[in-house]
Amino acid sequence: YEISGGSSAKGGFELRNRVNRVVLIGTGAVGSSYAFAMLNQGVAEELVLIDLNKEKSEGDAMDLNHGMPFAPSPTKIWFGGYADCGDADIVVICAGANQKPGETRLDLVEKNANIFKGIVGDVMSSGFDGIFIVATNPVDILTYAVRKYSGLPKERVIGSGTILDTARFRFLLGDYFNIDTRNVHAYIIGEHGDTELPVWSHADIGGKPIKTIIEEREDYKQEDLDNIFINVRDAAYHIIQRKGATYYGIAMGLVRLTKAILQNENSILTVSAYLDGEYGQSDIYIGVPAIVNRGGIREVLEFELSKEEQEQFQHSVQVLKKVMEPVFS
Ligand code: 2OP
Repeated sequence: YEISGGSSAKGGFELRNRVNRVVLIGTGAVGSSYAFAMLNQGVAEELVLIDLNKEKSEGDAMDLNHGMPFAPSPTKIWFGGYADCGDADIVVICAGANQKPGETRLDLVEKNANIFKGIVGDVMSSGFDGIFIVATNPVDILTYAVRKYSGLPKERVIGSGTILDTARFRFLLGDYFNIDTRNVHAYIIGEHGDTELPVWSHADIGGKPIKTIIEEREDYKQEDLDNIFINVRDAAYHIIQRKGATYYGIAMGLVRLTKAILQNENSILTVSAYLDGEYGQSDIYIGVPAIVNRGGIREVLEFELSKEEQEQFQHSVQVLKKVMEPVFS
């Protein structure tokens, strides 16, 4: 705490502590859902909104502020500018184009990589020295772009990766086995996209491997599990076809990640992390389980994958690298 005497307007003591500040860039559907979830969960003391569409963003700030009396703790929210990033702990990027029905995440790469060059440059010019969270698709490639454009250490640039896919997986498995989704430990790794994979070799419910449950019980079938994974992988397509975009699930996943950082949780989350030899891969951002705390990514967890899982993971890396090549060469 810094106590400065007599400087406040009322002439008394002003108690100034270093507050948590999160800056959100891009207040489209994902960004504004994130802001709403942040306020509802009382995660940060300050939340700054930045968007090219000033009117929309200003309106969001006003609207969100009117919910303050109902929030668990106060969050100071305002429409700001890049100068506000200088003091930020976290900058969350949700800006960019999203998929139209039928488009894959990888189809967005050029458009969004260009947008990102400008955004990251503006953030870094403010003197920002915190942690970037990237949510825009294709998220693995754009997280790599942010690392490259910002020059920040790898542990301080984090993509949402497969945090949402893992959540979808846990939700569907919890539903299938009729178990609280929070007691399902299972992971989706790889590209946040069509080549992602389920890690069945390390999927358990309350410590009991799902593989064993399937062997022991006749009422549960491998075929159903295979369909669950397909539904996870294709979930975004099903939602986009129905409502044009996905935002609530990812927004809550981003808040979970923000909280793990600000509260120094050392939580294991499947995020897009930079690999430097882990899983036999390097120079790539991709979804893997990682320990997240106040410093960003403390460590990538290396599971012993089955042979099939290793091959699928490698394929996912190759697909991403092929799309990345022209963008970063
Ligand atoms: C999602 O998986 C589209 O990446 C977005 O919901």
